[in-house]
Amino acid sequence: MSCFFAFILSTFSATAYSKIYSVVSELPEDVNYDFIIVGGGTAGCVLANRLSANPRVNVLVIEAGSTPDSALNVEVPFFAPFLKGTTFDWNFTSVAQPSLNNRTVYYERGHTLGGSSVVNLLAFNRGSNDFWDRWATLTNDSQWSWENIEPYYMRTSQLADPHSGLIPSAHGDGPVLVSTPGFETILNEPVIDTAKSIGGRFSFQTDWNAGNFTALVSGPTLCVFKNQSLILYKVDR
Ligand SMILES: Cc1cc2nc3c(=O)[nH]c(=O)nc-3n(C[C@H](O)[C@H](O)[C@H](O)COP(=O)(O)OP(=O)(O)OC[C@H]3O[C@@H](n4cnc5c(N)ncnc54)[C@H](O)[C@@H]3O)c2cc1C
Ligand SMILES: *[C@@H]1O[C@H](CO)[C@@H](O)[C@H](O)[C@H]1NC(C)=O
Ligand SMILES: *[C@@H]1O[C@H](CO)[C@@H](O)[C@H](O)[C@H]1NC(C)=O
Ligand SMILES: *[C@@H]1O[C@H](CO)[C@@H](O)[C@H](O)[C@H]1NC(C)=O
Ligand SMILES: *[C@@H]1O[C@H](CO)[C@@H](O)[C@H](O)[C@H]1NC(C)=O
Ligand SMILES: *[C@@H]1O[C@H](CO)[C@@H](O)[C@H](O)[C@H]1NC(C)=O
Repeated sequence: MSCFFAFILSTFSATAYSKIYSVVSELPEDVNYDFIIVGGGTAGCVLANRLSANPRVNVLVIEAGSTPDSALNVEVPFFAPFLKGTTFDWNFTSVAQPSLNNRTVYYERGHTLGGSSVVNLLAFNRGSNDFWDRWATLTNDSQWSWENIEPYYMRTSQLADPHSGLIPSAHGDGPVLVSTPGFETILNEPVIDTAKSIGGRFSFQTDWNAGNFTALVSGPTLCVFKNQSLILYKVDR
């Protein structure tokens, strides 16, 4: 079980602490957990953070992969493609795809504390309004509509510099810092000009997180380091 990582958040005093164990036998036997989260990925870590905001609650996170602490390819967002097929990846291959002439495709997924947010490019993109509204229609549940989901996006992130061109009212006051990449590429102008001239369904949108997710502009990306979740949680006993 050497690939077992347990991630514990607990409190005996007023402040929360957490500890990472790499083998099962290191787990203290005298602790009871109020919540056990299987999978220390993107959602699992957020859930652990929210649950452990209550200092009376003990949370155990069980992650199949290792910790990504010191890998340069993890810390630099655009080095993420180098993580494909490494220990940070599950090394999945799809079944034969009928619509791809039965070819299989490589299907990367994060295999580490932080999950697929460790192997992704940190492009910050929300689901579009029509995506959420379609989900609400399919489920007959208006709670999934863009109108009802957007307030939660507001609690997720906030703008950081540089962010010229983004729509401030579309961003909130949450812990994830979002900015534009801060540099132009030769593709920006032709893509923006083309989007503006086509209009309609693929009209130019100045901020792809404001609801209408259409033309690709100099889209916002996370300006935080990839192991931010570790820094948030990792306080030694
Ligand atoms: C290559 C790539 C690039 C991407 N680029 C972007 C991007 O730029 N912007 C963006 O917004 N999104 C991007 N995504 C999508 C985004 O990263 C994922 O949608 C998101 O991280 C999924 O979160 P999750 O919590 O559902 O799953 P994950 O973050 O994958 O978490 C699942 C966790 O569960 C663990 N696990 C699985 N089975 C077990 C088990 N049996 N026991 C214990 N642990 C287990 C896994 O190891 C993993 O840590 C990208 C995804 C990939 C793969
Ligand atoms: C990532 O986390 C490790 C361990 O906590 C820390 O030493 C390192 O400085 C962090 N890297 C960044 C880029 O914050
Ligand atoms: C990934 O899977 C393939 C088979 O699908 C195998 O040949 C290869 O060794 C695996 N790579 C790793 C790093 O586990
Ligand atoms: C794909 O595989 C299925 C099942 O084996 C088969 O019925 C189908 O004809 C194949 N399609 C193509 C395009 O080869
Ligand atoms: C949604 O409602 C429609 C019409 O009342 C019904 O046909 C459909 O089965 C419902 N779908 C779900 C997922 O409940
Ligand atoms: C953008 O989304 C809003 C709803 O949030 C909608 O009213 C508007 O028509 C959309 N515009 C385009 C161009 O899709």
